[in-house]
Amino acid sequence: MRSPTAARALFLPTLAAVVAAAGVGGDSRHPDAQEDGGALAAELGCGGCHAGMPAPDLARRRAPTLGPQGDPIPADFVFSYLADPVRRRDDLGRTRMPDFGLDEGERVALAALLGGGDAGAELAAAQRRHPDAGAELGRRIFAALGCRACHAGIDPPGDGPGPDLTREGVRVRPDWLDAYLTAPWRVRSEGQPGAAGARMPDYRLSAEEASALADLLMRTGARFASLDSVPLTRFQTDKTERLLEGRLACLGCHRIAGRGGRIGPSLEGLSERVQPEFVLEAILDPARAMPGSPMPHQPLGVREAALLTRYLIGQSGARQPEPVTSLADASHPAWAAPLGTAAAAGPTLYAEHCVACHGAQGRGDGWNAPNLPVPPTAHSDPQLMSRRPDDALFDAIAGGAWVLGGSPRMPPFGALLSAADIRSLVATIRDLCGCAGPAWSTDGRGALP
Ligand code: HEC
Ligand code: HEC
Ligand code: HEC
Ligand code: HEC
Repeated sequence: MRSPTAARALFLPTLAAVVAAAGVGGDSRHPDAQEDGGALAAELGCGGCHAGMPAPDLARRRAPTLGPQGDPIPADFVFSYLADPVRRRDDLGRTRMPDFGLDEGERVALAALLGGGDAGAELAAAQRRHPDAGAELGRRIFAALGCRACHAGIDPPGDGPGPDLTREGVRVRPDWLDAYLTAPWRVRSEGQPGAAGARMPDYRLSAEEASALADLLMRTGARFASLDSVPLTRFQTDKTERLLEGRLACLGCHRIAGRGGRIGPSLEGLSERVQPEFVLEAILDPARAMPGSPMPHQPLGVREAALLTRYLIGQSGARQPEPVTSLADASHPAWAAPLGTAAAAGPTLYAEHCVACHGAQGRGDGWNAPNLPVPPTAHSDPQLMSRRPDDALFDAIAGGAWVLGGSPRMPPFGALLSAADIRSLVATIRDLCGCAGPAWSTDGRGALP
């Protein structure tokens, strides 16, 4: 059973004493939990979706091949099985198919993709309620949720979605982790922030299992920041709010106190979820704190970053539940069509980093645009874009629109993307508007006016 976490409860007051580079010790609830947790994680296939977890070989061997290469499964069975697949099967050991919380439309689409034979009464009625939920939608849902992490047969087998857990032990608070692993959707129902559409499946872990996995994860990572936990003065609070309002891009992607974008996780109720030093790391060096994350680094002095951290951690007020959209709904952000074939760097980067705000066709109507106080520039507008030299576009992308006197909500991508990447984004914007920059900037005389 999980024991009280007295040592952990002491964590916050002793923040100032935390020193750089101390390894995280986990706790001693289960001396052999690392082994337990590791074996369990391998059987459950956590590593199919998360870097930093054991290889999912066992789960892959035990999960059946689906589709034409596998044994035929009746569509009726797929439809009802996916409503509640969590079973313990003695023949499979601890491995089990987790529950993805699929709604009816999603299950109709997956049954069309994976199942065969005639539909029984229940499935037929559901099909009438979701006439668009065919095999093609099923294929996209299968990819978005990462079913291929365990099952061969539909997509080429490979890594599923899911955040890198290599440094999870430095990131989250242990009590949050326990609660999350026990019932992920009770803690966070909307799934991954942003457009991916993926969500953490529910394995209905027993208390012992959740605890062993939490112990395993709390041992990961090493800390490099330390932080002073003294509350902010009035002056410091005002200063930080001015930074957030007028200079930083955080609110373009994150919600703070009831407003802001949804590309990243909400920062409301942050102190219940993450460790304060992690927030400081995430601001100072997002690529190190969250490997592979799309959060750009915004140049900020250590003092300002520490103030911002203390401000964010000090925000009281519970996290507002985020809206949940079904993947069977055509307006789900995951279906905001990426540009072109995505074979070229520019369109791929644009789909990954820009479409959420600027829209798939660059019309300034991305799914995150309504969360911004200033509409994102319409890159498809030839009148507007032909007045901008390529150099100005380059600078806005690298340094944020703020450097050109525009909205600070447009993030600076200079630390995340290479100069070559940014040039290919400028070329993509030129394709979207079907226009060139002003003649003086492109006629070979080169220099600014
Ligand atoms: C099919 C893919 C998939 C599998 C398998 C999977 N996860 Fe996840 N997991 C996700 C996704 C996607 C998220 C992000 C969801 C969100 O942000 O709400 C996530 C989130 C998490 C988080 C929260 C990380 C954070 O700090 O926000 C933890 C912890 C976690 N998973 C642990 C596990 C463990 C332990 C297992 C094995 C028992 C596992 N996952 C199996 C997809 C998966
Ligand atoms: C973490 C590994 C894992 C992931 C991810 C996963 N499955 Fe499974 N799945 C299993 C295992 C193991 C079984 C067999 C054991 C069981 O039924 O519990 C299974 C069984 C199934 C079955 C029943 C097949 C049969 O013949 O009984 C279907 C259908 C299925 N999965 C569909 C899906 C879909 C759709 C997704 C994505 C939404 C998915 N699975 C994601 C591991 C996984
Ligand atoms: C372009 C969008 C974007 C901008 C701008 C941005 N972030 Fe993020 N941020 C993200 C994403 C996406 C994640 C999730 C990354 C992951 O889990 O791999 C994230 C994660 C975080 C986390 C971890 C939260 C958690 O619950 O684990 C913190 C803290 C954070 N950001 C703070 C900030 C601050 C402060 C700023 C402004 C200086 C900022 N971010 C600017 C996109 C952004
Ligand atoms: C969080 C939302 C957001 C994201 C993500 C975002 N932008 Fe922006 N962008 C904006 C907003 C808002 C403006 C408008 C600034 C203004 O008009 O003051 C803008 C303006 C711009 C401009 C300036 C155009 C001009 O008027 O000169 C360029 C160029 C640009 N964005 C390119 C990009 C590219 C390329 C990406 C992806 C790498 C991107 N943006 C990602 C919100 C965003």
